[in-house]
Amino acid sequence: MASDQIVLLTGAGLSAESGIGTFRGQGGLWENHDLEEVATPEGFARNPTKVHEFYNKRRVSLADARPNAAHFALAKLEHSHPGDVLLVTQNIDPLHEEAGSESLIHMHGELARALCGSCGASHVWTENLFLTTHCPACGKSGYMRPDVVWFGEMPRQMERIYEALARCDLFVSIGTSGTVYPAAGFVEEARRAGAHTVELNLEPSEGASQFIETLYGPATEIVPAYVETLLGN
Ligand code: OAD
Repeated sequence: MASDQIVLLTGAGLSAESGIGTFRGQGGLWENHDLEEVATPEGFARNPTKVHEFYNKRRVSLADARPNAAHFALAKLEHSHPGDVLLVTQNIDPLHEEAGSESLIHMHGELARALCGSCGASHVWTENLFLTTHCPACGKSGYMRPDVVWFGEMPRQMERIYEALARCDLFVSIGTSGTVYPAAGFVEEARRAGAHTVELNLEPSEGASQFIETLYGPATEIVPAYVETLLGN
């Protein structure tokens, strides 16, 4: 394992036990909200106030969330493994960085940042956003939006992610339903690179058959145990 290059992909299931709801399945966010209305550029253009309200509520609900044992285990893996570890998360919450992960890409953006659609500046943002909010960089109002990736938009740092996948020895997908591309296609890229592929999830995801190894159970139990095995403890 000494020189192994590891790519980890995480999804909403990792933060579920920190009290942040998942998107799909019973009680999932997309059961009660129309994805087209609140998570697309077209929805934002049609009704920006509704979209701001949706993300303002989510930002407030994240304020009390704390990293769980699975977040801490992945941070430990990064800092204890002798090879490279890249953690790619689809989550927009800050729990990975709060747990100590540093080699981290938020491919779907971050809820705690706001983006100006006029000048392109991204700002750390903990307050509510409104249509009237001014951009601290260019001063214009009417252009601020959550710095998250919506459906139909390009996820962040894809070049760096594909480079890491092309040379990885191990790819581990954790707590994601494997339904949203491009993330859902990462396992195929890793397999093409000859990597060992592992799924850790509460239950088999849609793409479970693409993984060589699978382990099922709550993330706070199976992720720390899996990390200890990887580290040879
Ligand atoms: P989903 O809600 O689609 O899937 C969550 C996955 O986590 C499911 O496979 C569950 O079985 C699993 N899960 C739930 N609780 C768990 C637990 N305690 N331990 C382990 N696994 C658990 O969430 P994502 O796959 O992250 O994108 O969704 C991908 C993207 O779709 C999101 O980033 C978001 C969403 O629409 C955008 O908004 C662009």
